[in-house]
Amino acid sequence: MLFNKKKELDKNNIPKHIAIIMDGNGRWAEKRGLSRSMGHREGSRTLKKIVEECYRLGVRYLTVYAFSTENWSRPKEEVDELMKLLLEYLRNAERELAGKNVRIRVIGDKKRLPEEIVKEIERVEKSTENIEGLDFIIALNYGGRQEIVEAVSRLVEDVKAGLVSRIDEGTISERLYTKGIPDPDLLIRTSGEMRLSNFLIWQSSYTEFYFCDVLWPDFSAANLRDAIISYQGRQRRFGGVKC
Ligand code: FPP
Repeated sequence: MLFNKKKELDKNNIPKHIAIIMDGNGRWAEKRGLSRSMGHREGSRTLKKIVEECYRLGVRYLTVYAFSTENWSRPKEEVDELMKLLLEYLRNAERELAGKNVRIRVIGDKKRLPEEIVKEIERVEKSTENIEGLDFIIALNYGGRQEIVEAVSRLVEDVKAGLVSRIDEGTISERLYTKGIPDPDLLIRTSGEMRLSNFLIWQSSYTEFYFCDVLWPDFSAANLRDAIISYQGRQRRFGGVKC
């Protein structure tokens, strides 16, 4: 049987790494006659709650898709508002997470990001770098294909320089933005869409997917628990057979 229907959360089998595609902010706002930016603002509040719940449950890594390389094509007003929200979040991160052992890291191509955001990323990454409770990883100007292109380009340079003689999965993995971070065990996408949208495409080869209809601003701690319970009812075989 591939899925066991479980109802209770097993605190001894919490996924080590959860990845989330926080989808549905725009629809949430439109349903209420609000601007899409208001949806992102509400989504940012939801994110704070979910980071806290992951920390409480003992999740070791949480990676969220905050802004993709494709999101630049959105209306300027929406992009500006998202950048403003991200800046606010980074500026207030330590205060918001006070008392919690949360390390903040950002993955993605930082070159196209506004300078003030890059500065803030560097500051918060440095100030939380020795924390070992929850690694909260924000994917910002992130694209999975772009990540692989960059990794392969670096690899070519290293081969030319004579630093690498044999290429295997590890030589690629250690050149990705996620170097040193284990692959996600569970990937959640909200709002009913069922695709990866260029998120962690290398890393999610054996990840368990959980899709739910809830729009991201409405996603709750109870929804997170449901996703984990579903994950706990699955049999992970990583291409092998059941032992
Ligand atoms: C997708 O919903 C969501 C995004 C592109 C942005 C996600 C950002 C946040 C939740 C807030 C800011 C993040 C941080 C780290 C502070 P959508 O706009 O595509 O929704 P739709 O599909 O309903 O239009």
